[in-house]
Formats: sequence, structure tokens, C-alpha cells
Amino acid sequence: MNKYKEDFPILKNNNIAYIDSGATSQKPLQVINAIDNFYKNYNANPHRGAYSLSIEATNLYENTRTKIAKFINAKHREEIIFSKNATESLNLLAYSYGIDKLKEDDEIVISIMEHHSNLVPWQKVAKVTGSKLKYMYINDDFELTDEEIETKITEKTKIVGIAQVSNVLGTINNVKKIIEYAHKKGAIVIVDASQSIPHMDIDVQKLDADFLVFSGHKMLAPLGIGVLYGKKELLESMNPFIMGGDMIEYVYEQETTFAPLPNKFEAGTQNVEGVIGLGAAIDYINSIGISKIEEIEKEVVSYARKELSKLDYLTLYMTPHEEKHSAVISFNIKGVHSHDVASILDTEGVCVRSGNHCAQPLLRFLGIDSTCRASFSFYNDKEDVDRLVKALNKAYDMFKKYIKEGNENG
Ligand code: ALA
Repeated sequence: MNKYKEDFPILKNNNIAYIDSGATSQKPLQVINAIDNFYKNYNANPHRGAYSLSIEATNLYENTRTKIAKFINAKHREEIIFSKNATESLNLLAYSYGIDKLKEDDEIVISIMEHHSNLVPWQKVAKVTGSKLKYMYINDDFELTDEEIETKITEKTKIVGIAQVSNVLGTINNVKKIIEYAHKKGAIVIVDASQSIPHMDIDVQKLDADFLVFSGHKMLAPLGIGVLYGKKELLESMNPFIMGGDMIEYVYEQETTFAPLPNKFEAGTQNVEGVIGLGAAIDYINSIGISKIEEIEKEVVSYARKELSKLDYLTLYMTPHEEKHSAVISFNIKGVHSHDVASILDTEGVCVRSGNHCAQPLLRFLGIDSTCRASFSFYNDKEDVDRLVKALNKAYDMFKKYIKEGNENG
């Protein structure tokens, strides 16, 4: 058994193979205890009080900002903005950057594999500003080619939005290359790191990313806490998104001046327990080491790729190039709906996501309406994969007599 399971009460106390970490990761005791400790010993509203307890709460809150800045190698700690999740970070960018700065005939380029959160806000920007939303499509290996990138990103492009890892396909996009190319054309690049941050080393300065967003809950932290990283000069050039307490400098009856970064983008009482939990999650990840995490996951995912490829009743939606594949594997039992398959897997204690994974344009492009998705973490092991395979065999045995030829996924 994978020794890290011991740190996760849900995994320790239940006989499940939890293979849905792309939807949300499980939380180690260290994170749960940090939140408990905050409420028992430090609860006060940061930035609001001159008394010791509030100052301690402020320090805990701000220490996490510093930890995140180090974790992704941001140049300045005030380049880290707390949000609710990656979705809120992307909406902030759509409103405070996209709607404010784009004009008619400008272009926004995203990939067809984007999650709705990095797609629907750009539709809104395009509608409000008269700009155009364009897509980079994938090839038969579920990858973006250089040719596609270079055809779609042009001098007209002002914003490129790209997932570092697809939440459906697990494809790792070469964001460094996309950023280099987009910068040559004068566009800024927004990286959605939601599915990459728990799995790989991210250095925003090496990538030269203009903005990068992620959710805490996919990287062992609580639900409801997210991050927006932005280059200082870009964030400083933007208007606030949400307005209210703590994001101001002076407020007059008709006018307001805004606080400097990062407060300008953190209006209202924040999710302090979420921030503290995220800090504890980063400490926990650092205690194992992101390269060790990568190594463990590579071994499990490689085994899963091999074992699932042996099941000829499955359609697999993954690149043949293992080095370009992260911790997500989508599949269907040919002719059976993904929800039916996932329900049978559940009877064997195997937890996977099924449905369209908030990526309807991608699934439409692939000619399907849903998939089952196994998404792995460093707390998974080969036994989890074996349980998945056994449960899939059971599902296939149950459904095979109903399967009609040529019916892709039910
Ligand atoms: N965005 C999350 C997923 O892909 C919820 O499952």
C-alpha cells in the first residue's frame, strides 16, 4: 500500500479506490489540523484589528501568500491574489483585463480543450468588446501542434488562454512555447494551472507567464480557495473586479481611490481558513517534494495506461506520447453511457468522474457526449488501478449483451 494514504483520513477509514483527484483532491490530516488550530487559537479577521489576535491571524494569512510566491517562484509576493477558485480568478481577468482592454477586431485565442471556466468568460468578453474568440484544435493524438498554434495566434491576438494540462485528456500543453510565440505577436498569456499545479514544478518566471490561475482544492487544500498570479505591472494596470472593504485607500461620497496590490483585488472578508489550509497543503507538498510526487504519479499513471490499454472494449482518449501525458485518463466502454459505467464502478468502491467534465466543446469536437475519467494523485497506487480494471471488467460483463455496434458511448 502507498504509505501516503496513512495521512488521509478518508482513504485510511474507507475501503475505496479514490481516482477522482482531478475533481478534488483528498485532504491530509496536516491540512485539517491547521484549520482546526486556526479556529481554536487564532480566529480573528486579518487586516482589521490592532489587537494581537488579529495581528496573528494577519500573519498566518500573509505567510501563505509568501509560501505560494515561493512555490511558483513569483518575483513579488503581492503578485499573488487570493480568490475563491480558478474560475473566479479567470472571471477577474475577463472583466478587469479583457473587457477593459480589448476592442473590436482584437482576438482572443484559447484551445478547444479548455474547461468552461477558461472559455465562457471569454465568450462574454468577445460579446461585450466586439473582439473575436478563436480556437486552437487538437490532432488525432489529442495534442496541439506547433502549426495550429502558429496559425491561430497572430498580430491580432491580444489574449491567449491555455490549460497547462487538459482536465479531460491529461495532455500536457507546451505552455512555455505558446507563451514565447504569443509574446512575439504582442499577446499576453493566461495559464490555467488547475490540473498541473498538484503534479509538476511550476516556475512562473521561467515560463514568463503573464497570469496563472489555480484552485487550492485540487492540491490538498480546502474547497473555496483559489489563486491568481499576475505580473505586477499588469495587475497594477487593471481596475478592481469586486469592490468593498479592504480594497480601498480613501473613500469619498462620490469617488474612491484603491489600495495597492494585493489588497486591491481582495475585497471583503476573505476565506481565511482556506488560505491557512492552502499554506498547510504547500508545506505538506514541500515535505514530500514535487519531484518525488511526479515520480510516484508517473509510475502509477504509466501502469494505468498499460493495464487500461489491454481492455479492448474501452475507447481511451489519451496521447500515445507518455511524456506529454499527466495524471488524467478518460475512457468509455464502447456503447455504454459513462454514468452507467461509473455507477457500477462505485459498487466496487472505485470513485471516478463521469460526464462532460465542464468541457462540452471538446467532447463535441471528439464526437462524444461524455467519458469516464480516472484522475490520479501521489496517494494512489497500483492496487487502485487493479481495482479499477476489475470493476471495469464487471461493468463490461453486465452491459455487453446490450451494447450495439457503432454506438460510441451510449
Ligand atoms: N474542474 C474539475 C474537474 O475537472 C471539477 O473535475
